[in-house]
Amino acid sequence: MTDYDTIDYFTDPSLVPDPHPYYDHMRSKCPVQPEPHYGVLAITGYEAANSVLKDSDTFSSCIALGGPFPPLPFTPEGDDLTAQIAANRSQLPMFEHMVTMDPPEHTDARSLLNRLLTPKRLKENEDFMWRLADEVLDDFIEAGSCEFLSSYAKPFSLLVIADLLGVPEEDHEEFRNVLGAPRPETQVGRLDGSNVGLNPLEWLDDKFISYLAERRKNPRNDVLTGLATSKYPDGSTPELIEVARSATFLFAAGQETTTKLLSASMRVLGDHPEIQQALREDRSRIPTFVEESLRMDAPVKSQFRLAKKPAKVGDTEVKTGTIVMVCPGAVNRDPNRFDDPHEFHLDRKNVREHIAFGRGVHSCPGGPLARVEGRVSIERLLDRMADITIDEEKHGPADARRYEYEPTFILRGLTEINIKYTPVS
Ligand code: HEM
Repeated sequence: MTDYDTIDYFTDPSLVPDPHPYYDHMRSKCPVQPEPHYGVLAITGYEAANSVLKDSDTFSSCIALGGPFPPLPFTPEGDDLTAQIAANRSQLPMFEHMVTMDPPEHTDARSLLNRLLTPKRLKENEDFMWRLADEVLDDFIEAGSCEFLSSYAKPFSLLVIADLLGVPEEDHEEFRNVLGAPRPETQVGRLDGSNVGLNPLEWLDDKFISYLAERRKNPRNDVLTGLATSKYPDGSTPELIEVARSATFLFAAGQETTTKLLSASMRVLGDHPEIQQALREDRSRIPTFVEESLRMDAPVKSQFRLAKKPAKVGDTEVKTGTIVMVCPGAVNRDPNRFDDPHEFHLDRKNVREHIAFGRGVHSCPGGPLARVEGRVSIERLLDRMADITIDEEKHGPADARRYEYEPTFILRGLTEINIKYTPVS
């Protein structure tokens, strides 16, 4: 029997397939409960999570992604860590990206995104998604079976972001090959040696710097020109690398997460034929289906904050320097907020109260986009695949399924999901 009081959440692989009994155990002790190994304060309750995420003045995002790893590059001193964080910023992982910044730097970095995520651009991007969904499906649909992540979810979510950023369509194949969603015939490791040895993130930075430099020199009527000529709120012009990073970070933030949403949704369709049938009969239920998939299986598993001042969360006193971990998956199943929290309900009334996209100043700017990606994908998958079932040879029979999840405490997502279906022409 697992001892949830002593288990190490950050390293124990037994918690990966299903972390919910652990979350429930922690919440039953206290929704704001220290875990025993690193002294990290785990937040599993809804109210507590909201109060932490909405208070960026007290809770710094400087360790948003890694939490206790690596350890802080300084020993917290005094009752306000603002100056220490600023002095040590460049030693913190991902310090150059907005997700680890606090206001006012965060406000500037995020303002560059506002230029991009306009209603007009999102509408154009949705038009592209409908076309893209069919193009990606055309590549493999006739086979009647697939590994869904590599065949659909990864290339789809990658190319949606490429389009959002205005990457010319003739370059999409190159993005697909370098960023890990290649067509089978162009896969890395091909015997002719092409594509080997590229570092995807460096490649992305270089690629965007060259696009943006070219657009600053020769402006065109396109999205990249809009980005290249964007200004900070005070009217100053950002360095090219800063704009490029806002762009490239979208691939890091938006591709894996959406891939996980799509694969979690596919698992529900395959494991619950009655839900699949209900959606086939009434497509207007798809948006709530997507929300409930996000609630049940939040792709971001841990969001970290550093208490830079003393605070109180619920009834718990939080000392300066404490690492706080909000677990959206746990919060989304808090029985004080969601009835029958471990069950998938297609008609859940308050489903949009889930925090899969976070809360506060860092709440996900890609949320609206991810929701549309989910809706468009489910629509086209149901249109073009009849009788979707889970491949029992790969995942076992319905009463004894075997699924593997990525072994990480930061994200929650299937490593693969193999399905069968009847192609619809
Ligand atoms: C289902 C898909 C997605 C989920 C579950 C998700 C979740 C999240 C969460 C929880 C945060 C907050 C992190 C924190 O507060 O520490 C976040 C931030 C962010 N997300 Fe998403 N995301 C998704 C898709 C996307 C997409 C498609 C994009 C881009 C097009 C995107 C871009 C970003 C960016 C840039 C941030 C940082 C925002 C900031 O620090 O102000 N995300 N996301």
